[in-house]
Amino acid sequence: MISKFHKLASRVEDLWATAGKEKSSFPEICFNELSNFEFPHSLEELESELALWIQGSSLPKQLNVYNNFGQPPVTLFNNGKFVVDLYFWMNIDTSIHSHSFAGAFKVLYGQSLHEVFEVKPKKVYAEDVMSTDINRVTTQLLNQGATERILAGNQFNHRVVHLDTPTVTLCIRTIDDKEDTQWHHFPNGLSIEKRAPEEKVLKNLFYYEYLFNRNPEKGMAFLAEIIESWSISEMINLYEQMTTDSMGLSEDACGFFFETLNSIYGASEWYAIYENFYEQLEDHVHAEGDSAIDRFMEHAINSNYSYAQASQILITLQGHSLSEMQEMNFSTLEK
Ligand SMILES: [Fe+2]
Repeated sequence: MISKFHKLASRVEDLWATAGKEKSSFPEICFNELSNFEFPHSLEELESELALWIQGSSLPKQLNVYNNFGQPPVTLFNNGKFVVDLYFWMNIDTSIHSHSFAGAFKVLYGQSLHEVFEVKPKKVYAEDVMSTDINRVTTQLLNQGATERILAGNQFNHRVVHLDTPTVTLCIRTIDDKEDTQWHHFPNGLSIEKRAPEEKVLKNLFYYEYLFNRNPEKGMAFLAEIIESWSISEMINLYEQMTTDSMGLSEDACGFFFETLNSIYGASEWYAIYENFYEQLEDHVHAEGDSAIDRFMEHAINSNYSYAQASQILITLQGHSLSEMQEMNFSTLEK
């Protein structure tokens, strides 16, 4: 069964070589191959096969070692130019983003909500931070088998909300291509470049913690020096990561890092938008259940869907009209 993914990878490899290995040709090749990819196995069958495969002695180099994109992400094939990845989505992912890479993905199991956005820059604060006008232009349900292209660059911005637990997606994407930048868009109008922290940045950060634990003053002085060389996006990407998991840093070292960030950027206009995003999150509703319907309703309310759009999708999702309780939950949406 896993060999089907490897055959898929080698077909894509051949087709891409024939097309001259241009990044721009990659999404269409992946889209066609994934659309035609037949995988008539149950999720349970895949889980059992993968359990055997993953114990094998030589896994391809994993694109994501940790569970920061998929819980877990599993790289099935990696030739240094592109990967075939499986993502098991257990958590809801609510990030709106563009891509530095190109490819396509297919929903193997479960279903997702796919939203595409138009993002227009308003004010550039730094080369990696800007305020933006962000509008949802299309919204569609992706059922099992649905395939979508991933276009590199800032013309394609999307969010994929995985409704079923798990939703499993199969993705073919380029790697190690740094010519396009990737942006994370906060829905209240702030965009920050998204990139994994470089080794040097991480090593400096962990050395800061070491010094901080040895002698707080030394650690503070060291942090003040290294932070000068970090861009805003490097700081914010680390900060975002640290707020969800401490990256192994002690509570005090994290706390001082946050204080430093506040003291440097606290008065900036962009930082106020950033803080406003998290303040707004406090008003978000949280569904009691974890079904696709619960997840969709929660998302529609928190993302300011109109009543017409939310109810239309909900009817498609559940196959019948809204219950009284659902009508009540949607009563705050714009009619
Ligand atoms: Fe994406």
